[in-house]
Amino acid sequence: MSILELENVRIRNDADGRELVHGVSFALQPGGVVGIVGESGSGKTLTCRAALGILPEHFVVSDGRIRLDGQDVAGLTRRQWTALRGTTISAVFQDPASYLNPSLTVGSQIAEVIRVKRGAKRRAARERAIELLAAVRLRDPAVVYGQYPHELSGGMLQRSLIAAAIAAEPRVLIADEATTALDVTVQAEILDLLADLRRDTGLALVVVSHDLAVVAQLCERVLVMRAGEVVEQGRVEQVLHQPRHEYTRLLIEEHEAYGLERYLVAS
Ligand SMILES: Nc1ncnc2c1ncn2[C@@H]1O[C@H](COP(=O)(O)OP(=O)(O)OP(=O)(O)O)[C@@H](O)[C@H]1O
Ligand SMILES: [Mg+2]
Repeated sequence: MSILELENVRIRNDADGRELVHGVSFALQPGGVVGIVGESGSGKTLTCRAALGILPEHFVVSDGRIRLDGQDVAGLTRRQWTALRGTTISAVFQDPASYLNPSLTVGSQIAEVIRVKRGAKRRAARERAIELLAAVRLRDPAVVYGQYPHELSGGMLQRSLIAAAIAAEPRVLIADEATTALDVTVQAEILDLLADLRRDTGLALVVVSHDLAVVAQLCERVLVMRAGEVVEQGRVEQVLHQPRHEYTRLLIEEHEAYGLERYLVAS
């Protein structure tokens, strides 16, 4: 059974009546990886936010269906959503610093997730948080535990945020431009980390990126979005080697300079 399934999802801004996402469908199996690519403003983040139950104010899923672990999310109360977020579905976004409280240590924020979402005692939560910091390959995890966000580099912050996102053992992790702000080497390390988490824990991934090389490296299937429409979707090798849509061809041309081939050959 799919862990996350979107069926013809449409998203509308009720403040002005505009529809911004015009029908997105995909099914993600446990341990699967789907990519979403497309130009800025094409509706990638709104689609993810709908799956997380965190659409901006006035935005609604106006049609279609979202199923999380088999459950239709349409009727969920705020409290039920809160219980699912972190434990079933979780996310990391660009700009990790803005998701951490600058006045609390990184470790205590991860431990808090484990206490609240998993009901762990203080000491067990601390131990688990240090394990997680090690799992995201931060050196000296016990030291990092006690550091404040401003003491860490962008790459270390993003790793810490991934640790927080997986702390309550979700089944699905959405990475929305999660590596975009990082330099190329760090970006590659974080992508490796995500691939390993998927392999080792069966975590399913939704990877949003404007960078086709990122999607080529990580994903099995990909959706190409433009202006709220999915113009093309399918297996990564198929879509990136034999694009059917002119827009996909343009995206690929733009990315050839970044060495897309190298990832396709490896996958
Ligand atoms: N909070 C909001 N208020 C008003 N309009 C919004 C809001 N969030 C998104 N939109 C609009 O919805 C459309 C889709 O936005 P979305 O953020 O999903 O795009 P995106 O594909 O994630 O783009 P990017 O690659 O720049 O992140 C855009 O036209 C955007 O202006
Ligand atoms: Mg976005």
